[in-house]
Amino acid sequence: MTTTAPETVDTAALEAVFDAAVAADERIEPRDWMPDAYRATLIRQIAQHAHSEIIGMQPEANWITRAPSLRRKAILMAKVQDEAGHGLYLYSAAETLGVSRDELLDKLHAGRQRYSSIFNYPTLTWADVGAIGWLVDGAAITNQVPLCRCSYGPYARAMIRVCKEESFHQRQGYELLLALSRGTEAQHAMAQDAVNRWWWPSLMMFGPPDGESPHSAQSMTWKIKRHSNDELRRRFVDICVPQAESLGLTLPDPDLRWNEETGHYDFSPIDWDEFNEVLRGNGPCNEQRLARRREAHEEGAWVREAAAAYAAKHAPGSHSGGTPHSTPERGTAASGSTEHPEAMV
Ligand SMILES: [Fe+2]
Ligand SMILES: [Fe+2]
Repeated sequence: MTTTAPETVDTAALEAVFDAAVAADERIEPRDWMPDAYRATLIRQIAQHAHSEIIGMQPEANWITRAPSLRRKAILMAKVQDEAGHGLYLYSAAETLGVSRDELLDKLHAGRQRYSSIFNYPTLTWADVGAIGWLVDGAAITNQVPLCRCSYGPYARAMIRVCKEESFHQRQGYELLLALSRGTEAQHAMAQDAVNRWWWPSLMMFGPPDGESPHSAQSMTWKIKRHSNDELRRRFVDICVPQAESLGLTLPDPDLRWNEETGHYDFSPIDWDEFNEVLRGNGPCNEQRLARRREAHEEGAWVREAAAAYAAKHAPGSHSGGTPHSTPERGTAASGSTEHPEAMV
């Protein structure tokens, strides 16, 4: 069902249709009417998510040439390539909201749109590849599984495939850490050190505490977000504690203990000053990440030009080229197809 608005249609009536669709857990599709603020929130969130996927390739790519075996190298290359793919699905999802990928990349390169702060930390040892897979991809899954039920169709459908791939990322990280943890004393120490350094930044990935997260309530009403930051963070801690025990590693928090009453683990307060510093651009690798991204974009200019020239040459007709793409009918949140509906270039 589409509700494209002629000028004369009453906005209140359109808003009522939109609200009812969200309340009924129906999907909002690109050609449906939606409030401007809903569109702007989604563009900001999906863009930030897409940027995180492609910037996130850098810390791990740092270790591809130094992976300790052919097997580890093949796994890491596949993982880093997956992240590029996630970026593509997400930029495509953002484009259905009326922005172009170029525009979003320009904003990233100009520092006007953010990516996840976690990628501003360095990967100092091989064990960091394991800690990132286990903790950073693990936190990403915890955040993203509920997004498979997000009210905006293209975003929700992109998340289904992303989450399947993230599960592989999380498992390879866990398996890598397990091998190190059971290895020599030095390997065990390297794994422990990596977990010590990545634990707190991973908890910060869920964003500020609920009381200080001004957009959260609105996003939850719109069913873009299904759980609060603190709720997801708690869920992540509950999952990680027994996994750390199985790994034979500890988490760097002396106050971490099971709370019978709440049915969750208690943990120490998070150092939000550190989070805010990294957010302000003062993390260990902010400048390096953005500089490398700009460089990669410039180096890839000839590929984009060649692809555009090729597409123009093969387009049937002068400027309308390509197959017309249709917007899928609005389905219910439960009926998630695993196909990404948007054409990927
Ligand atoms: Fe990813
Ligand atoms: Fe990942």
